[in-house]
Amino acid sequence: MPFTLRPAATADMAEIMRLERAGFAQAIQETEDAFAERLSAAPEGCWVLQDEAGRLFGYLCAEFWPLQQGFNPARFARNHAAADTHAPDGEEVYVSSMVIDPATRGTGWGRKLFSDALSEMFARHPRLRSTILIVNPEWLAARRIYRAEGFIEIGEIESYFASDNGQHLPAIVMRRN
Ligand SMILES: CC(C)(COP(=O)(O)OP(=O)(O)OC[C@H]1O[C@@H](n2cnc3c(N)ncnc32)[C@H](O)[C@@H]1OP(=O)(O)O)[C@@H](O)C(=O)NCCC(=O)NCCS
Repeated sequence: MPFTLRPAATADMAEIMRLERAGFAQAIQETEDAFAERLSAAPEGCWVLQDEAGRLFGYLCAEFWPLQQGFNPARFARNHAAADTHAPDGEEVYVSSMVIDPATRGTGWGRKLFSDALSEMFARHPRLRSTILIVNPEWLAARRIYRAEGFIEIGEIESYFASDNGQHLPAIVMRRN
């Protein structure tokens, strides 16, 4: 099925939350307030995939950060306010979240969403020259995409991800320059 990538809008919120609930364990789902704040503070980082009827099949959220050597774990705090961290003139994209509708997974759209949204951001904001993200060790499809797109592991943040059974896993930090 052909999908189109476009910037996200406030009217997409209900569908973004549907995808969020389908994408992540309850313990790490982000709130509607967090997405609304992100859309307001960093609209240039929010993207959705829609079909011809306007139904959403994926979203990707990102912020722009000043580029720094290494990484500061505090910057990755869950449910942080993008208004506190997003720098419109930053040189590094931080991809904070990405989901593909379960009905569409495994057909190449995850990699295309990731690659195309980053290409759009880099084309629109020529100062950008790096991308950083974190990933749960168990998110194998996401890890395949990041490796295939040239990201390398630069460290870990201990006990970052809570699971619904109360256990915690580290976040793997990956960067592509
Ligand atoms: C991560 C996600 C967006 C990928 O979307 P997708 O449409 O399934 O991805 P693709 O079809 O482009 O597949 C990407 C790669 O992962 C592989 N893959 C897909 N599902 C997999 C699975 N369950 N286990 C291992 N590898 C898998 C594919 O074979 C492909 O690898 P290849 O290119 O080497 O063949 C989607 O699985 C998802 O929404 N997951 C839940 C939320 C999440 O983990 N988000 C990412 C972190 S924020």
